Amino acid sequence: MPTIKEILQTMDYGPALETTKEALAWLDQHGRRFGLFIDNTWSEAAETFATNNPADGSELAQVMQATQDDVERAVAAARRAQPGWVALGGHGRAKIMYALSRLLQKHARLFAVLETLDNGKTIRETRDADLPLAARHFYHHAGWAQLQSEEFADYRAVGVVGQIVPWNFPLLMLAWKIAPALAAGNTVVFKPAEYTPLTALLFAEICQRAGVPAGVVNIVTGDGRVGEAIVNHPGIDKLAFTGSTEVGRLIRKATAGSGKKLSLELGGKSPFIVFDDADLDAAVEGLVDSIWFNQGQVCCAGSRLLVQESVYDRFIAKVKARMQNLRVGSPLDKSNDIGALVDPVQQQRIHGLVESARAEGCEVWQPNVELAATGSWYLPTLITGASTSAAVAQAEIFGPVLVAMSFRTPAEAVQLANNTVYGLAACVWSESISLALDVVPQIKAGVVWINTANQFDAACGFGGYKESGYGREGGKEGMYEYLVPLAEDARPAAPVIAEKAKAKPSETDSPFGVDRTAKLYIGGKQARPDGAYSRAINGANGDFLADIGEGSRKDIRNAVEAAHKASGWTKATAHNRAQVLYYIAENLAIRADEFAQRIAQQTGSKDAAREVAASIERLFYWAAWADKYDGAAHQPPMHGITVALNEAVGVIGIVCPNENPLLGFISLVAPALALGNRVVAVPSEQHPLSAIDLYQVLDTSDLPGGALNIVTGSADELARTLATHGDIDAVWRHDGSAEGCAEVERLSSESLKRTWVGGGKGRDWFDPKQAGGRVVLQHASQVKNVWIPYGV
Ligand code: NAI
Repeated sequence: MPTIKEILQTMDYGPALETTKEALAWLDQHGRRFGLFIDNTWSEAAETFATNNPADGSELAQVMQATQDDVERAVAAARRAQPGWVALGGHGRAKIMYALSRLLQKHARLFAVLETLDNGKTIRETRDADLPLAARHFYHHAGWAQLQSEEFADYRAVGVVGQIVPWNFPLLMLAWKIAPALAAGNTVVFKPAEYTPLTALLFAEICQRAGVPAGVVNIVTGDGRVGEAIVNHPGIDKLAFTGSTEVGRLIRKATAGSGKKLSLELGGKSPFIVFDDADLDAAVEGLVDSIWFNQGQVCCAGSRLLVQESVYDRFIAKVKARMQNLRVGSPLDKSNDIGALVDPVQQQRIHGLVESARAEGCEVWQPNVELAATGSWYLPTLITGASTSAAVAQAEIFGPVLVAMSFRTPAEAVQLANNTVYGLAACVWSESISLALDVVPQIKAGVVWINTANQFDAACGFGGYKESGYGREGGKEGMYEYLVPLAEDARPAAPVIAEKAKAKPSETDSPFGVDRTAKLYIGGKQARPDGAYSRAINGANGDFLADIGEGSRKDIRNAVEAAHKASGWTKATAHNRAQVLYYIAENLAIRADEFAQRIAQQTGSKDAAREVAASIERLFYWAAWADKYDGAAHQPPMHGITVALNEAVGVIGIVCPNENPLLGFISLVAPALALGNRVVAVPSEQHPLSAIDLYQVLDTSDLPGGALNIVTGSADELARTLATHGDIDAVWRHDGSAEGCAEVERLSSESLKRTWVGGGKGRDWFDPKQAGGRVVLQHASQVKNVWIPYGV
């Protein structure tokens, strides 16, 4: 008699096809042709293009290629609608958003089938993941609309938002973008990806039924040209983009200096780390969800498998056995695990990358599975034997391809995990909570899943570190992306800087005099500028005050190196960092008169003592925040917790303002230090002596060498070097130079650094609202969401 196991092995699934009747009827009802949804009406464009079913190549419908004029109309409609949408109030918006989620639930099956037809992803995923999550996003954000006046009282909506999404989660990305934007009182011009526009168009109909006022949601279809028209439109106040890092970079460049708010959710090459004490069978299932979910076309896919050497062979054998059981085929079949890729173009791209790995000597393993002759398919693939620098180990393949490597120690696992330009997500598998939680903070990624994979929820922020982009979607942190602090509106139009009198010649300018050029401050020591150049600083009355070092590219490099070495500052406890800031304040207070005199000499200020007192208070303020900017424990629908940690950004380059040489410097440098960042600061170009005088204060305040480095000189030159430096994580510029700030944004696009620039406007550095608050803390930190299921 055969055993039960033997019987089970001979059994196979019968076909279980989901019906397409309703979805096809909906397409037919529209004559398989869809217009643009602008101002609550449908309009045609001259050019159309086909959207196809990638599982069999058949055409589903024709959609419009919007023109520049269409984008113009959409932006104008959104602009007209925005005040009314705000005036509706939080409750008014919440009711409409609640109706949207109810309608999404009511028509969930139609949406799910349509998505599967248009995208090729399996019905199991559209039905069980995309649709419930999309509806949850509208529910959750209806709640934020309701609570807006209480929770975001000091903020307003940004205005008109342009949103551009890719094809891998068409409706879910729409929900991630549109829900927070509407909740906050913005109106939107939304562009779906050209491969997958259909569910967005069905959503437009849902908007009409839910009573979304005309112009609040506008949907324009088309390719990258439409995206570009949205990006470049002057009437757009904020852009939210998800897609390739390459296009993300273009958008950063195109919007530099425009003042548009920007959030980018870009590519990834996420590590999936398996320690030897992990539940290996559970980890294999996690891996299936991580890299074979959605055919691997997931920005946070766990595409790099890192397994501890002692269990590597055993784990790889289990992975291959599981891969052999993955069912690839019709996405409409409810028992299939892997459907079609979105388009043959993607299939060819993936094929090219895998074949180049094979040519380089890697082992390429695929299960022995038959694929349909037509359609866009790719077998689940495992690559072993790749070097860490191989293209398949570094590039985002965006397909069902896993690259496996081994490691020996946790330290090596972290090093391999971080060996990527990306930083979107990571998985850590271990039965030791102590080991897992020790590794998590060391991984540079915006989301980390412990003993689970690819979990998402509207309450938990999602987004990347490094070249995976910036900004978060979901949760409270995601709401801030669609809001502007009211204090920003109160900023003066331009910095208020007193004119200096004509420079008088220095009496001590003798070629035989001792060189008293003030040095730079690097690694906790005074350092001569590399170029041995200096510049004279004159007082407000024209008197010569001092020569200062002319910092150069090389000095910035040295400062960045020193900052990287000072990683102990980031690891120090928040209490400890606060103590150091208090100590700086105390030592500054002892020399308050001297500092006031210096400010007066440089700026001619009659109120210099007030600036010193405000600087001391500001140090107290940021010291107070150091151990109080807590994260959050979210409550996603999971047995477990998601912990949002506010982590330091890393090394921040800061170009300080001219108008208040001491207060401006401290207002920017102190919060960065308070949250554990290391800083390379460029003091006021016009009045650098207040920062130079701080060297001695710093020396006596227990600030570790390298935590704060100060390089004096030309703000433009030094900002340029900071923005192009590969090892700087963020650049802030607040010296009122509009062109300089635009340049920082433009140059930072190369490594996708975060930027915080003040533009050409001024700032009242005395005003705690303009120079303090959560906004600054947000710039000085990045949120890592750590998912920890338990009891499973
Ligand atoms: P893409 O980044 O070109 O397209 C994403 C969206 O941006 C689409 O709606 C597209 O029309 C729009 N777009 C294209 N060019 C634009 C421009 N110059 N300005 C404004 N919008 C523009 O991504 P694509 O071509 O669909 O995929 C190419 C590769 O990008 C994939 O193989 C994958 O590696 C990566 N990718 C990564 C995604 C992620 O979430 N990490 C998502 C989609 C693609």
